[in-house]
Amino acid sequence: MKKVFKKIKTVKGELSFAGDKSISHRAVFFASMAEGKSVIRNISSSEDVKSTQKVFSELGVEFFHDNSDLIIQGKGRNKFKAPVKNLDCGNSGTTARLISGLLVAQKFSSVLIGDNSLSKRPMKRVIEPLSLMGGKIESVNSVLPLQIFPSESLRAIEYSLPVASAQVKSAVLIAGLHLNDETKVIEKFITRDHTERMLGLPVNTIENFKIVSSSEKYFPTAKEYFIPGDISSAAFFIVLTLITENSELIIKDVSLNPTRTGFIEVLKKMNADIKIENVRESSNEPFGDLIVRSSHLTNIRIDPSIIPNIIDEIPVLSIAGIFAEGNFEIRNCEELRYKESDRINAICENFRLTGLDVEEFPDGFRISGEIKKAKVNFNSFNDHRIAMAFSVLAMMVGNESSVDEIECVGISNPTFYEQIDSLIK
Ligand code: S3P
Repeated sequence: MKKVFKKIKTVKGELSFAGDKSISHRAVFFASMAEGKSVIRNISSSEDVKSTQKVFSELGVEFFHDNSDLIIQGKGRNKFKAPVKNLDCGNSGTTARLISGLLVAQKFSSVLIGDNSLSKRPMKRVIEPLSLMGGKIESVNSVLPLQIFPSESLRAIEYSLPVASAQVKSAVLIAGLHLNDETKVIEKFITRDHTERMLGLPVNTIENFKIVSSSEKYFPTAKEYFIPGDISSAAFFIVLTLITENSELIIKDVSLNPTRTGFIEVLKKMNADIKIENVRESSNEPFGDLIVRSSHLTNIRIDPSIIPNIIDEIPVLSIAGIFAEGNFEIRNCEELRYKESDRINAICENFRLTGLDVEEFPDGFRISGEIKKAKVNFNSFNDHRIAMAFSVLAMMVGNESSVDEIECVGISNPTFYEQIDSLIK
């Protein structure tokens, strides 16, 4: 479906978001692994987290809804049921990669599949460390489907992440939860740390390296989780408010985990008026409120070490960049090519449609010049974050500019367009 936009005048209002997608995936994982009843409040409404739930249902976990709470009757260690069907991870890289770490430790075989986009995404990054642990995984060209067989002997390893990926880190740590000896994951560039926070895993820093350890001592137990609002969903509304005149937006109870708020730091350095208030913590995860106001932004140099922290926000950050003084340039983010679409290419193709000058690099892009077209029809590339970022731009351009195939927004935020409608004045 194609969505057509009028030019936005001002943004005014207050929003709260369904639970953060990354934290929700992990809450479903840990509650399913724990023995007994866990409760998840404010779970993500995303299709991706539903994919994780579907996979665990196939492994025998039971889910119930009590008003807005999700109740999970977890199986306990080594009690999952052998699946009778292939495990369908849909569009979700987090589901596919994290579940690989769990399945290598089971006594049954399983097959992981996914949609067209997920079936093209690299799985070598999890196959390699899990095989070093003694896991038995087969695949053609290191993409889905993955066939996972019971391992004769799984062993603990020390693994330095070759790519900055929280999904790979989590897969290895989840496999390590089944072992007596300590598995260690070493990272040079800090990635999101929800797995270590939620499981209470020990973390050490030696020189510039962070080391996270897991072992069976940290196997999850049943508990109650409150999931703070999704900061990556909030990012589109933050940018929309900043670049629209006379605007103010209050965002309540949103995740403020420091491994996820890098784009707020970047925007503040760009002169964004964003205030953080009322910071609290739940399940070891900080959250609070944001007050965002229209701002005159200036582009800055983006440091390579912050890239893993802002990776999901780069599409919408680039929209802020084209309304800021100076040219927007971002490098060292080749990882964007391996997301739900090749996001470097998707962003550049869409900017080219506007008449802006675009230089595409293997690891980033540079945007300069002016928007020359009065009306633009953007492509979503069937990627939720591209659809939402270019919906923000289509609202700025107006004149019936549009974004096609917008259904994909449900992958992370099915209420995106309703929330937009509630704010536009
Ligand atoms: C995620 C990690 C990141 C991120 C993705 C969610 C997670 O992927 O882009 O949206 O929940 O661990 P990588 O681990 O591939 O960087």
